[in-house]
Amino acid sequence: MLPARLRQRLSRGTPPREELVAEHVVGRTFLDVGCMWRIHGGIALAAEAAGATAVTGVDVMEASPEYLAERERRGSSMRFVRGDVHDPALVDEVGPHDVVWCSGVLYHAPHPLLTLERLRALTGRTLILATETIPRRGTVCEFAPEPGVHPGIDRRLDPAEGYVGWYWGISPGAVRRMLEVSGFELQDEHRTAFHMTVVARPR
Ligand SMILES: C[S@@+](CC[C@H](N)C(=O)[O-])C[C@H]1O[C@@H](n2cnc3c(N)ncnc32)[C@H](O)[C@@H]1O
Repeated sequence: MLPARLRQRLSRGTPPREELVAEHVVGRTFLDVGCMWRIHGGIALAAEAAGATAVTGVDVMEASPEYLAERERRGSSMRFVRGDVHDPALVDEVGPHDVVWCSGVLYHAPHPLLTLERLRALTGRTLILATETIPRRGTVCEFAPEPGVHPGIDRRLDPAEGYVGWYWGISPGAVRRMLEVSGFELQDEHRTAFHMTVVARPR
């Protein structure tokens, strides 16, 4: 039987992303780091529609035709910057935003603490970090976890391919601790067995 606190956390599941973002963005600037693959800037465009004042998306991928068409259709002012969030020049160019959303990036990063350091530099008020996790107790970071640990794992670890490989299997406890040592204070958390979404603010 799972402890009551964990049961309660797991039962909160994964909140609908657009709704979670909308709770935080009204009257605030918004940045989506890793905004393109399969979602074509959709979270940033939703943040703009929900009342964000200025919206930026960053990705190592180039802007997709789907994104460009949707941006045009909406008459959106969203800024897209192509680059690697680990690059200090990219961080300077993008600049801090009130609310930063970063989903599906941390476990693809060769150096996840560096990723969080860059997110810290970009976050003015709120970071919403969503990531795949491994179901381990404690602060576990497993390098290039074995296929089968998580339904999505593959082993391609080439940044030139756009960080498609899963470098790390990270336990929920390790995500929390890494956020803390990167200068964030945890405010809220949603979890399933293989995924977590954390709301945090700069300490
Ligand atoms: C697994 S997809 C997640 C897409 C979307 N955020 C979501 O949650 O559905 C990871 C995205 O982050 C981008 N990405 C990965 N590493 C990155 C980096 N270091 N800097 C910028 N973008 C990165 C990838 O190109 C891809 O678009």
